[in-house]
Amino acid sequence: MVLIRVPKPWNLPDNRITSEANFQSRRKFVKTFVGAAIGASTLPLLGCQSSQGTEADPLMGVRDLSFQGNPSFADVDRPTTGRVLAATYNNFYEFGGTKDIWQNAQSLPTENWQVEVGGLVNNPHTYDVDDLTRAFQLEERTYRFRCVEAWSMVVPWIGFPMRSLLEAVDPKPDARYVRFTSFYDRNVTTGPALRSNFLPWPYTEGLAIEEMANDLAFFAVGIYGQTLPKQNGAPIRMVIPWKYGFKGAKSVVKIEFVADRPSTFWNTINSREYKFQSNVEPEVPHPRWSQREEKLLGDGPEFSYEVVPTLLYNGYEDYVGQLYA
Ligand code: MTE
Repeated sequence: MVLIRVPKPWNLPDNRITSEANFQSRRKFVKTFVGAAIGASTLPLLGCQSSQGTEADPLMGVRDLSFQGNPSFADVDRPTTGRVLAATYNNFYEFGGTKDIWQNAQSLPTENWQVEVGGLVNNPHTYDVDDLTRAFQLEERTYRFRCVEAWSMVVPWIGFPMRSLLEAVDPKPDARYVRFTSFYDRNVTTGPALRSNFLPWPYTEGLAIEEMANDLAFFAVGIYGQTLPKQNGAPIRMVIPWKYGFKGAKSVVKIEFVADRPSTFWNTINSREYKFQSNVEPEVPHPRWSQREEKLLGDGPEFSYEVVPTLLYNGYEDYVGQLYA
């Protein structure tokens, strides 16, 4: 594979990546108010952002990454979401229940991060996250990203296939599921949601082992050419593009191979609304809303979105259809 470092729109000094003109020439836009999602308080700040990516710039990673472009996932049939929107419109309940938690998330301590991989494997190992990025070739993949709340983005992730890690730890034959646990420290992850004692913290997610071994399943350590901003799940998160976004646990600290289907955060809270499998399936409505369409978020001068049809398995049926046949 060749090293591809084509200059990307997000390297431009302009914070607005997806050109609205480009969007508008092809699509009809629905304009909305900025609202709670990307507050008026956020936007003036953006003019002050440095393009260098320092610790002081919470909308960018702390450093550039070196990676190969994966031509199979270089593009999707939709424009890439703007970097600023992806860094300011987030779900990270450890830091609050609204979309604008990016400032709260800056308290996440990402130095000397370790990921413990164990359970039913022949080679259990605790990895420094930097070891992971050295051990596995980093690649860039642009994936559709569909939230269960019926909005979506298109995100250029940088990371490595989950299968690489799976092969390194060599699961035992009785390992049928994998459980992923996010960072949790009651003194740090202080979002209001944490005050609710019944929530089953830490945030956990799970996959069948065949799902983890699928070509698409990915660990992201970066986005838009740089390390992940904290609000996007630094320093390492899951990306499972054919499933709803909540299946992608952020800031992963533990990976366990297990025999039985593990309990997971949202499924424990409400198993009727948040199934363990939670593939993107337009014909399977959420109990409270349809999943046939989604708001594809734009990133023009005003917050905007376009309503587009939701695709089976988020458009990745060729990759994963056989898993569920
Ligand atoms: N991981 C943790 N630890 N905590 C969370 O609240 N939210 C999930 C997922 N991973 C969540 C999480 C949900 S609901 C979505 S849609 C995505 O993260 C959002 O990722 P983004 O903020 O990078 O777009």
